[in-house]
Amino acid sequence: MSNITYDYIEKYLKSLIVEEKDVLREMEVFAHENSVPIVQKETARFLELMINLKKPKKILELGAAIGYSSILMCLSSNMQSEIVTVERSEKMIELANENIKKYNLEKKIEIVQGECIEVLENLDEKFDMIFMDAGKGHYNHYLPHCLRLLEDDGVIIADNVLFKGMVATDELVKRRKITIVKRMRKYLEDINDSSKFVTTVIPMGDGIAVTMRRERND
Ligand SMILES: C[S@@+](CC[C@H](N)C(=O)[O-])C[C@H]1O[C@@H](n2cnc3c(N)ncnc32)[C@H](O)[C@@H]1O
Repeated sequence: MSNITYDYIEKYLKSLIVEEKDVLREMEVFAHENSVPIVQKETARFLELMINLKKPKKILELGAAIGYSSILMCLSSNMQSEIVTVERSEKMIELANENIKKYNLEKKIEIVQGECIEVLENLDEKFDMIFMDAGKGHYNHYLPHCLRLLEDDGVIIADNVLFKGMVATDELVKRRKITIVKRMRKYLEDINDSSKFVTTVIPMGDGIAVTMRRERND
């Protein structure tokens, strides 16, 4: 139960999604068996859609894990997108590199080892799309850096913004998650500043927020 939408809706929508093949499917099975959190099926389809619409040349991802979403985004772009993905766990990086090698995507996907905030502080190239999927309790801290690194017409996609429903109601908040929830609410408030941004929050997967800079000055 995700506490994001009705179970029967979620179950039905998942049932419509065609299973991945080959290495991606193997990675899904590995992630499931080893409790590695990777994007949910519907989030994966959403990322594919965004890549097809936006056709980003450069993507920054926060949180590589075993490389599943990086590989998926790169394949969705027909290998046209270059991806820089940040990961702090050596074990995850080792597994991600093995998977990236299986698809011969070494020249397209670069893993940067480190804490997201430190890596963000030291980056200075521009990206067309930024996918936040690490350190839920720090999205509000990542935002100023992401805005600095984002092309004017770039898009920020943040996963897990409803965090099992806890962000939307105190009734679901677990005590030890209070700080994450408070900071996630701050992130959502920041990106919903309509004088600066156009944002939509989609109750899909664990909640996805999509943000662009507002062009209109009124
Ligand atoms: C949800 S998983 C990423 C899943 C991946 N995007 C996918 O769907 O295939 C989050 C990953 O971020 C890493 N991580 C968490 N907090 C981090 C931080 N503060 N800095 C760098 N990596 C972090 C974790 O080790 C984990 O592998």
